[in-house]
Parts: sequence; structure tokens; C-alpha cells
Amino acid sequence: MTQRRRILVTSALPYANGPLHLGHILEAIQTDIWVRFQKLRGHECYYVCADDTHGTPIMLKAQSEGISAEQLIAQINVEHQRDFKDMLIGMDNFGSTHSAENRQFCDRMYLMHRDAGYIDRRMVRQAYDESAKMFLPDRYVKGTCPVCATPDQYGDSCENCGSTYTPADLKNPLSAVSGTIPVWRESEHYFFKLSAFEQPLLNWVRNGGVQESVARKLDEWFSQGLRDWDISRDAPYFGFEIPDAPLKYFYVWFDAPIGYLASFAQLCERSDLKFEEFFNADSTAELHHFIGKDILYFHTLFWPAVLQAAAMRRPTSVHAHGFLTINGQKMSKSRGTFITARRYLQNFPSEYLRYYFAAKLGSGIDDMDMNLDEFTTRLNSEIVGKLVNIASRCAGFITKNSAGRLAGNLEDQGLFDAFVAAGENIAQAYERRDMASAVRDIMALADRANQYVDSRKPWMLAKDAAKLPQVQLVCTQGLNLFRILMIYLQPVLPQMAARAASFLQESSWEWRDAAKPLLASSIHPYEPLAVRLDPKAVQNLIEPETAAASAALPTGAARSAAATGTVHAGASSATTLAATSVEGNLISIDDFSRIDLRVAKILSAELIAGADKLLKLRVDLGELGHREIFAGIRAAYDPVSLVGRLVVVVANLEPRKMRFGTSQGMMLAAGPGGKDIFALSADSGATPGMRVK
Ligand code: MSP
Ligand code: ZN
Repeated sequence: MTQRRRILVTSALPYANGPLHLGHILEAIQTDIWVRFQKLRGHECYYVCADDTHGTPIMLKAQSEGISAEQLIAQINVEHQRDFKDMLIGMDNFGSTHSAENRQFCDRMYLMHRDAGYIDRRMVRQAYDESAKMFLPDRYVKGTCPVCATPDQYGDSCENCGSTYTPADLKNPLSAVSGTIPVWRESEHYFFKLSAFEQPLLNWVRNGGVQESVARKLDEWFSQGLRDWDISRDAPYFGFEIPDAPLKYFYVWFDAPIGYLASFAQLCERSDLKFEEFFNADSTAELHHFIGKDILYFHTLFWPAVLQAAAMRRPTSVHAHGFLTINGQKMSKSRGTFITARRYLQNFPSEYLRYYFAAKLGSGIDDMDMNLDEFTTRLNSEIVGKLVNIASRCAGFITKNSAGRLAGNLEDQGLFDAFVAAGENIAQAYERRDMASAVRDIMALADRANQYVDSRKPWMLAKDAAKLPQVQLVCTQGLNLFRILMIYLQPVLPQMAARAASFLQESSWEWRDAAKPLLASSIHPYEPLAVRLDPKAVQNLIEPETAAASAALPTGAARSAAATGTVHAGASSATTLAATSVEGNLISIDDFSRIDLRVAKILSAELIAGADKLLKLRVDLGELGHREIFAGIRAAYDPVSLVGRLVVVVANLEPRKMRFGTSQGMMLAAGPGGKDIFALSADSGATPGMRVK
């Protein structure tokens, strides 16, 4: 027996500004399978996670919902925990970066950094919003690209030409918070001297800190040279104030990974685990972080250096995975394929997703596509058709003909031994996070088990009373093979495995139990462990309203207009519109002239809690004053990107009372709906209040 390892595992901390989606769940499932595997092998393994609660977006989101940031993150924490639990993610602790423990760790580590000479102070010039009285993160300044002159670009990079720059380079910059023109102000910032850690980081990377493919990516970063890291932000900021710097806050990415420590410390507090044994510089425990490939820089460069600078151990490994796509495309709110964990759980059992993800998860950083048709086909053919089928074919005979007793010996010891021997390869595949290879091997064994039952034909033998002992032997063999497969699959299918164990009248399984056959004992009557999926049911995963809205104009447009106060005059559906118009929807020029169309400037745009499709806009109508309008354009526009835009508004529409307030007008935009809605941008030369003719 190999040595018992002590292992601490984390997955990345989800931001506390929205629901978990299947991308988050992919990561959690990968981590959870690995953790359950380690526990099954008899190792001491813990899994901690937390919500990532700090930073400007969360602060602004709380403001726009009219609640405190603390209230927002408390609500989200409850939802996240419930989702993880229902996905059978067995975290040993789920904390929050806004915890007393985290504040203590941040302070302590920062002071150690400072005293060891790893903190520098430098003046930084940054965009400042005088009306919102805040410094603006790069993404909150918008303007015209200095390189290709595309309007309405974020302050860090251009979506059109791909160039990267700073907000100071933008032409006609505007604050996305208030729509006003920012000024430039200097402020003192605190920098972590990452450059001092170049050599130790190189060693860490070369000694197995990351996957091969990731090491190559890191080489690129090393060759560009490591730049010192700005870890401070000015008030107002939702986060922790820096101990020796009033009104300066730790940047969210400084305190977020420290949240791993804080969450583990909470687990230590309520058990007899000793934090230091895991985090002292000479710790022999393992520390593994599971993350998505988008946050590699933070975990493979900043984080090991931050730990080392505080005289703590570095991670054993950082394991990155790729991104989840749905039906070949990026998850998208407008296509309805932004599938939340909750939406999935309302439709299917969590274990079907766990199995599907496991079957497709390699150990590299390739993206993974979830194809909804393949999802049902695989589940039906592999779990129901192959795996569970073995038990359901054998159990009935044991219950009916042998009083629920298994035979006292195996019919084919060699086959049983082959299943046991295959376990080592499967274990190695799990260990290196090649879940797909583990599942492939297990399913190949399932095929062999089914072939075995097919070859012995117990249903034929059972017709002859003299052959009933033979039937018992064959079915005992079949159930033993099934049992081995369920033990191997337990990290993926914990609930199904637990039910299989209790069907076989066993309390729980460890990996090594696979080697001992189950003989001369009783079993319970078989109850189905999995049911077939209706292939049509996957359509429920795609948000239905979105599907309807994009299905047909003008009905779709009319419906969303009624529901949201928005008209989509569909450019791509112009023919449909025209055809319908000829059929009797014509309006006279007088009808048309009664509509007061005006240019409006968007002053602010806010998300509305409980309304997935709506944004609340405040618009400037020039001489007509300011108005509040609700528009169903959330899928198409990030609220931040709307501020400062000019749009056309129906100014004399009767105010409409809606669930979230009264809409005092209607915003017009082109496009079929969903993500494809196009509002005008700020460069048209129009001014607020101008009539549209
Ligand atoms: N809060 C940071 C992480 C801080 S860790 C100290 C963050 N949060 S996140 O909510 O944006 O993402 C959390 C994790 O989910 C990240 O590892 C990210 O890569 C992963 N994923 C987010 N979308 C994903 C997919 N579509 N597919 C797979 N993983 C994805 O980043
Ligand atoms: Zn550009």
C-alpha cells in the first residue's frame, strides 16, 4: 500500500455577482471527481472553495440593485452553495473572501511582504470620474480606438483591431459609470515586486508546478519579463483597506487567492486540522489548485510569489482546464445557451452531467463542447444501456430463483481478475486528471460484462429448473463485475454508487474493495438506478423565451415590445415585416406623424434583479428632460457599454407600469432580438432631444 498523502484541493472562487453556470460547474465537477478519487484511494484529502466577493463590478452591481454589497454577496453565497450541493460537489468548506479570516491573512501577508522589502509605492495616473467621485478601472472607460478609430471601445483594448492600450490613449473617453468625461488624476499605488521572483518561479514551473502546455505559455510570459504588480485600489472600493494605508484597498485579485487559505482556516477551526501543517514553507502536504485557463497568470505567477514572499509553501500544482462551449458556440445569453446550474438541475439529475463532463474531460487545456444531442445519446446508451443494464439483467434471477442470495463462488475467476487488474490504469488516469480515459476504460469493461452475460444467456438457462444453480452463478458473476465498475465510477457517480452499494447490502466502498468478490451474501431487489432521458427534454435547457423572441417577427417583436418596452425593427427580418404589412398592418402617414421620435442619450444603464432580459435606462431627452425607460436589451448589451450612447426613443408613448417600475418611453433598436439588437452609438452627431424624421 502506498503512503497516505495529505492533500488540499481548491477550485477557483466564483465571482459573487451572478449565478453559477455550466462553465463553473465543469470546473467544480473536475475538481470534485479528483477529490473523491483521492478519498476513495484512502488518502487524506480536503476540498475548499469560496465566493470571490470584492471589486468594482460587485460594488456597482449592488448599487444598481439598491442594496449593500454585503447583502448582495450574502444572497449569492446562499445560491452558490445550494447549486454546488445539488451538483453533488463535496466541498469541505465554502467560504467568502469577505470574511474575518481572509482579512487577517491579507493583512498579515501584506505586512510580511512590506517588511521583507517586496512592496513599492509609485504614483499612477488614472482616469477619474468627478461626478461618481471614483477612479475608473480600465474597463469602465470607453471611447474611440486610438489605432483604428472604432468608437465605443473599452479602455484596455479594441474589439475591432485587437490593439491594447491604456484609457489615456482613447479618443473621446467617457466614464461608463456616469457618462461624463473623465479627468486624469494621480494617486499613490502599492506594487508587489513580482520581478524579484523570476528565478524561483522559473524553478517552480520547471519542477512540475504546471502542465506541459501551460509551461510553454509561461515561457512566453517569462521572456517578456515579469512586471511588478499593482495590488492597491483607491476608495470607494468594496474590499479590505490596506492596514498602513487609509483609503487604499487591496485589489480584488490580491485577496481572492488568499481566500483559499481563509476557507481552509475555517475548516481547521471546526476540526482538528492544523493550518500550519499545510502552509508552512516546509509542509509535506500537497496543495492543488484547479482553475480555468483564463486565470493562469494570477495562479502561476502572482500567487506562488505572494506565498513565497510571506514565507509560506507554494502550490504543488496548478491544473488548468479549457472553456465549455454549448453546441459549438460560446455560452450566450441571447441564444439561451448561457445555461445556469439551476436551470440544468430543474431538468436533469446532476449525475448525468457529471458523467458527461467526465467522459469528455482530458488533462489538457482544450475547450470542451457540450453538444445537447450527444448528451442524451451518450447517457442513454452508456449509463442506461450498458452500465445499469448489467445489474438489471442479473438481479431479477437472483431475487426470484435464489431467494436474493449470491452464489458462493465465481463462475469466471479469470474475467473477474481482469476487471480488478484494469483498475490500476483507471486509477492512474484519474490521478493525472484524464477523466475521459478513465471513463473509456470503464465503459470498455462494461462492454465485456455485457458480452459475458450475453454469452451465458441466463434467461435461456432459467427455463430449465435443473440449470438454476448455473443461473445463480452467472448472475453472481455479472453483479460482481457490475460492482467493480460502480466502485471505479464512484468519483463520478457518487449517488448512484451509494445506491448500488446499498442494493448489494454493503455500507460503503473503498477503491481496494473492488478486488474482493461479493459472495454468498444477500442482495435487495433491484430498483432502477438510472432512467432513460427523453432526447426532446434537452430543449428545456435552452431558455424558451429567447427561442420564441428570435423565432419570428413581427410576432416576436410585438411580444417583446409589449413585455419590455422595446421595439426591434428587424433589419434581417425586413421581408417578413413587409409581407405582413401588406396583409393589413399598414399605418397612414398621419398615424406615423403622431409618433414623437427623439434622440436620447443614455445616462445610466442598470441590471434589474429578477429580470433577465431587461435593463433600466436613464436617458437624457434634451428639452424633454430625463426619463426612465425599461428595455429588453440585456442580452445584447453590457450595461456599461451603453452609457453615453445615443438612441432613438418614442417620447410620447403612454407610460407603462411594469413589475420593476414605470417605463416612460420606448427605446428603438434594429435587429431580430436577443443578442442581435443594435442601438446607435455616440458618434452620429445628433444631440439629445433632436427630432427624428
Ligand atoms: N473570481 C475569479 C477567480 C478567483 S480564484 C482566486 C474568477 N471567477 S469566475 O467566476 O469568472 O470564474 C471562476 C472559474 O470558472 C474560473 O476558473 C474560470 O476559468 C471558470 N470558468 C468560467 N467560465 C467558464 C467556461 N465557460 N468554461 C469553463 N470554465 C469557466 O475568475
Ligand atoms: Zn481599434
